[in-house]
Order: sequence, then C-alpha cells, then structure tokens
Amino acid sequence: GRVAVLMGGNSSEREVSLDSGRNVLEALRSRGVDANGVDGIPNLLRELNTKQFDRVFNILHGGDGENGVLQGLLQTMGVPYTGSGVLGSALSMDKIRTKQVWLSLGLSTPRYLRLQPGGDVHVAARELGLPVIVKPSCEGSSVGVSRVFDDAGLDAAVELAARYPGELLMEQLIEGDELTVGILGGVALPSIRIVPAGEYYDYHAKYVAEDTQYLCPGLSGADEDAIRALASAAFESAGCSGWGRVDVMRDRAGKLYLLEANTAPGMTSHSLVPKAARQVGIEFDELCWRILEMTMP
Ligand code: DAL
Ligand code: MG
Repeated sequence: GRVAVLMGGNSSEREVSLDSGRNVLEALRSRGVDANGVDGIPNLLRELNTKQFDRVFNILHGGDGENGVLQGLLQTMGVPYTGSGVLGSALSMDKIRTKQVWLSLGLSTPRYLRLQPGGDVHVAARELGLPVIVKPSCEGSSVGVSRVFDDAGLDAAVELAARYPGELLMEQLIEGDELTVGILGGVALPSIRIVPAGEYYDYHAKYVAEDTQYLCPGLSGADEDAIRALASAAFESAGCSGWGRVDVMRDRAGKLYLLEANTAPGMTSHSLVPKAARQVGIEFDELCWRILEMTMP
C-alpha cells in the first residue's frame, strides 16, 4: 500500500526532520515501498482526503508531530502510524513530567526545578547548586538549551529558553559521559557514547560537525547491560512503544541519570539510532523497513 512519510512541519526542528524524512523516503523506496513525502500535518490531512495512504511513517521532530496531537488525529481516523501512541508521545515531549514519572518509579534522573514565570532563577540555581542546565521542557535537538556555570549566566539562559513555548526546566548538570540508547521493537540496541570535539553535544555537534565521535557500544560488560536495562525500563514506563531513543548521562562515579525519551528520533546521516542499529547488522534501509513493519497487522 501507499505510505506517507510525514516530515518537515513547523517546529524548531523542521530542517532536521526534512533531512531525516528524505533519508527515510529514499530507504523505503529502495525496499520497493510506494512511499510519498508529505510536509507537515495540514498537508497530510488534505492528502489523506484525496490520495489513499494506508499508513504514515512519522518522522516529524518536535511540535504537534511528536507530542501526541498527530497520534490522536491518526488514531481517530484509523490510519496506522509508526512510533509511540498518544500517551508515550505526549509524556515524552514534556521533559518535566517524564522526570516526575521516572522519579516516582525510582528511576534516576538529574535533580531539577520547574522555573515559574517571574520566579527568581538565582534562588533556583542556589537550590540545585551550579552548574545547571536550563532548557525549554518541550523542545528537541538541544534547541534553547544552555549550560550555566556561574550566576552571571542565568538570566541569558532563561531568556533564551523562554523564546520557546511551554515551561522551563532547570536541571543539575551531570558531568561525565553522554550516552544514548536506541530502542527498536521494544528492545534496547547497543548504547552509544558521544564524544563531541567541542565541550558539548549541542545542535552544531549533532548535525553539522564532522568531528563528533561515536563509540558503540558505549560501555562494556555489566555497565552496558545496566544502561540498556535502564533505557528499556525508562521507555516502557513513559508509555512509549515501537522505536525511539533514551538519552542518559553517566557521572564520573559511573552512576546513570536519565535525561529524556525521544519518540521520533533523528534519522539524519549524523543520527544515533541508525548508528546503533548498524552495530547489530541492521542497515538503514532495513531499519526503516522494520519501523514501518511494526504498523502492519
Ligand atoms: N529530537 C531529535 C531529532 C532527536 O532526538 O534525535
Ligand atoms: Mg529530545
């Protein structure tokens, strides 16, 4: 049947999604799938009325494509789609509430505060202890994120994060290794340890830099088993299913901290889930096929 590859949209991650989408489109076509690119939810709705799509491969990042709104719409219309359902998508797009669920289950995540509009960020930073990270609760790809090491940087960090919709989060900065675990068919792939050439794995290091290093598997032996088990538990407890990616920090003592779950992770040439899949012999075309296949009865 016909497949709509839904990409682009109007979130802050539009360009990343177009990049992911073009790769997915090409991969599915190479597997003989009748795949068609569609830019954004309004176009999808129009095209669902005229062209007959049997299913949607959703590779919108952020916004209504990843926060449950699209998922509810497609569910109501009876159109199968890739990735998590309404609950997992909505919860995971909200970093604050995802942390609340994980904490309630005893899953470790960095200490945090929700920044109240008009609240005193200096008091908040004192309560958590510097350094901290300030982020919009509902963005992706490190958009709007700042690391803050001294009081003087707090106001600018809040001002930047406040440019994006939704709540703001201040989180204890965990110093150590940045790791991520892809999930495919509910099973954790080998972890990846990210070693940016600069200080942080920010937007530039994610999508532009060619000197970011990726080590896969990121850990070994029991440590690798532990991070995969933690990521699986985190993914499942956030109501996610199908495929996705859980981001984790590991401090210098080896303690793991969950950062967030991503329900429509990047599929660009720099992206992480494709690298982890390749490590276990699943090439990109096959990865896309397997994600699509999960929507079939
Ligand atoms: N939000 C980006 C696309 C990711 O998680 O890969
Ligand atoms: Mg994210």
